[in-house]
Amino acid sequence: MTDLFATEPALVGLLNLARTAALHSYSPYSGFRVGAALRLTNGETVTGTNVENCSYGLTLCAERSALVAAVSRFGPGIRIEAVAVTNLNGAPSPPCGACRQVLAEFILPDAPVIFPAVDGLRAIPFSELLPLGFALDPK
Ligand code: THU
Repeated sequence: MTDLFATEPALVGLLNLARTAALHSYSPYSGFRVGAALRLTNGETVTGTNVENCSYGLTLCAERSALVAAVSRFGPGIRIEAVAVTNLNGAPSPPCGACRQVLAEFILPDAPVIFPAVDGLRAIPFSELLPLGFALDPK
């Protein structure tokens, strides 16, 4: 099942960019190739991929790679209005908990996040992915 929201052309386009980014994945340990694409409110799109390390815990996820690239390129004022995550392994890959918390710092609560779920492509608002994220100044 693919939810209707996930068939929106803009989100499908973002997903294609994420797929292209996954081609650059450095994942010799897991073989799991992930790509992420962030659409920013300034109209730009930034992608990232996972970069693993032989000290496994130092691995960078695709979502956080994309976020770091976006801040490096456009500065700390960026806001994310849509996210796409995918992988080349044909597996489900919703953003991990750590990536959700890191995205929370820069993302609009209503931003759609599209990803392959167990039951097909899903697109859901970020606030549903991380309903109770940590914040220093909870609103
Ligand atoms: N990975 C991501 O890139 N994003 C996620 O949200 C979860 C996992 C990567 C990390 C590691 O390189 C591989 O997937 C297997 O966990």
